[in-house]
Amino acid sequence: MATYNVFRLQSQGSHQNIKQSSEPIPTIEGHEILLKIRAVSLNYRDIAITKGQYPFPVKTQVIPCSDAAGEIVEVGSRVEGFKVGDRVIASFDGTNLYGPQKNWNHGHGGPVDGFLREFAALPATAVVKIADEANLSFPQMAGLVCTGVTAWNALYGNIPLRPGQAVLFQGTGGVSLTGLMLAKAAGARTIITSSSDDKLEFVQKKYGVDHIINYKSTPDWAAEVKKITGGEGVDYILENGGSGTIKQSIECIKMGGSIAVIGFLAAAKQEDMPDVAGLALSKGCIVRGITVGSKQLLEELVQFVVTKGLEPPVEKTFGFSPEEVMAAYEYMQGGSHVGKICISIE
Ligand SMILES: NC(=O)c1ccc[n+]([C@@H]2O[C@H](COP(=O)([O-])OP(=O)(O)OC[C@H]3O[C@@H](n4cnc5c(N)ncnc54)[C@H](OP(=O)(O)O)[C@@H]3O)[C@@H](O)[C@H]2O)c1
Repeated sequence: MATYNVFRLQSQGSHQNIKQSSEPIPTIEGHEILLKIRAVSLNYRDIAITKGQYPFPVKTQVIPCSDAAGEIVEVGSRVEGFKVGDRVIASFDGTNLYGPQKNWNHGHGGPVDGFLREFAALPATAVVKIADEANLSFPQMAGLVCTGVTAWNALYGNIPLRPGQAVLFQGTGGVSLTGLMLAKAAGARTIITSSSDDKLEFVQKKYGVDHIINYKSTPDWAAEVKKITGGEGVDYILENGGSGTIKQSIECIKMGGSIAVIGFLAAAKQEDMPDVAGLALSKGCIVRGITVGSKQLLEELVQFVVTKGLEPPVEKTFGFSPEEVMAAYEYMQGGSHVGKICISIE
């Protein structure tokens, strides 16, 4: 029986517990495609899962990583619309085709196996085709799955962003940089924060963000945002810090604006917990939790990225050997990255 290389997280606690082994190549049912995975992208979620800090279910000995891009190598007898050689990306939750997330039970690389492996059998309904003319690398495609859909959901999942509006991104990680790419392409005015002046300078030069603020040297960054926007505040915020940053976010959201609560990177101490209800009321703003997003959102995102010829922000790509996989996880944990970290699977 033909075998392939696969990594499994033997137990939670550390990324060092991710071990490579050899397993039979999956066989497909009539409604499935066999995907030769060519790249995965890493998310903060993957780090939280290895450390045992992810607040949702995780399968025992899970295959890590939610974001896969690859080529179809076999098509099931009942599948229409796909052929061998098509480039596709897999939706974060293959069961969530449209609308809000139904539960946390089907996200790849958590409650069900993910894609740190060479092959995967997937229902054809769970993948999105990348147009032949699209000039995207496999790591760039993989970066659209969780990060891309999350950022798209923040900007278009409720009241859609309009040209000329102002958007604030917290930090220079994958979600922020991908959101920046989308918002700029949509004609928005953009502001980004970071703990590092070097990162801010880099993001301004390479990605053309309109305004930068160091949230370490300017702890009252909301005041700076208001100054930049003539006292009004921004229309959208991609909130990556969570309870520790949301007070400042509400301070600098425009009246009636939208805060997409995405991350939990800066939790507030219980005694410092802000009164979000009262603060939101004072601004008449939307405080909306984001749960990645559906396949429908992924399709909309892919269409926008391909039509506009956008280049998803991949910072570094590692190889598929055990040493390289460890290095990729360590690089992500180190936090020096700007944009996405990926693993290429040749
Ligand atoms: N809800 C969802 O569906 C969903 C989906 C995807 C991701 N997430 C979450 O979103 C967050 C970001 O994910 P990611 O993949 O983009 O992570 P990432 O690539 O590791 O980026 C993290 C960046 O956040 C910034 N940061 C850390 N603490 C901050 C603070 N107090 N204020 C502002 N920025 C801060 C840092 O930027 P600087 O180094 O520039 O300071 C850091 O590099 C994570 O919590 C992740 O779990 C949620």
